[in-house]
Amino acid sequence: MQYLSGLRFFSLSLTIVTVSQGFSILNQTRRLSSFVTSALGTNTRFKFFFSSVSSSSLTSTDEIMATVSNPKSWRSLLEISIAKTRKIRGSNYVQLSTVEDGEPRCRTVVFRGFQKLPSDHTFFNECDSLTTTMKMCTDLRSRKVAQNQQQPMAELVWWFPKTNEQYRIRGRLILVGQHDEDDQDVDTTLKNARKELWGNLSDPARESFLGSLIPGERYGGEDTVTIPVGGRNEEDGKPVPPPENFLLMLLDPINVDYLLLGRDQYRQADVRDMGKWSYERLNP
Ligand SMILES: Cc1cc2nc3c(=O)[nH]c(=O)nc-3n(C[C@H](O)[C@H](O)[C@H](O)COP(=O)(O)O)c2cc1C
Repeated sequence: MQYLSGLRFFSLSLTIVTVSQGFSILNQTRRLSSFVTSALGTNTRFKFFFSSVSSSSLTSTDEIMATVSNPKSWRSLLEISIAKTRKIRGSNYVQLSTVEDGEPRCRTVVFRGFQKLPSDHTFFNECDSLTTTMKMCTDLRSRKVAQNQQQPMAELVWWFPKTNEQYRIRGRLILVGQHDEDDQDVDTTLKNARKELWGNLSDPARESFLGSLIPGERYGGEDTVTIPVGGRNEEDGKPVPPPENFLLMLLDPINVDYLLLGRDQYRQADVRDMGKWSYERLNP
């Protein structure tokens, strides 16, 4: 919707710019409008060209020029995007894609912050002195777990409507579960990270891991298992121990595609090689 309302603004702007500016914006408008209409079908084309101007607008050229003249790594850019949108509900919902038999599978998950790791840890990585390992959680019984065994590479897409930015973050998806808890060889950092995340979940989120119904299977009636309220002990109110179904899910990025959408656009590719990040500007 942000895309659409911004395009309405584009249409109006054509009437107030000079002729030469007009041509450049016209080209952009055409490019974007064909992109959107091809996705939505031709009937919507007129709707968004002739409907009223929305109060929201695309990122200004000045803001984009500020990014161009002061380039930053994806991680520093993301830090700013998160800070600007922290208070918006749903701003930490991201789309995560995995692969099953060569086909994509995509779903929404909650991004739960960056996982701090000691510098000698296998998955330790930093960019601009900021940790890059992304933290989420999932259910052992969900399809993504089997998909992850087939193909551990995954891509996460994060769209920030307020700042008109898209991050496409690719890397290895690492699942940490009960099995690893019991395994003497698995490092205590990940075991502790899993426990810590379990304790930090909201009560309803904790409860969702304690039922017996298998997610994605045909509905056969309500759960007959009694789920502790809030996933907490009745006696002391503390969270019950994490169940087998609860997995810490980490994304260890190696590639990021950043796009800032506006009257002009800015795109950048960040790549991790031998633990070090570098980036270059791309055509949008
Ligand atoms: C707003 C929202 C947040 C969600 N958060 C999570 C999450 O943090 N972890 C998760 O595994 N599933 C989450 N889900 C459910 C997934 O989208 C998906 O339905 C589930 O993980 C099963 O997917 P799979 O069987 O393809 O693995 C969320 C769904 C929505 C709509």
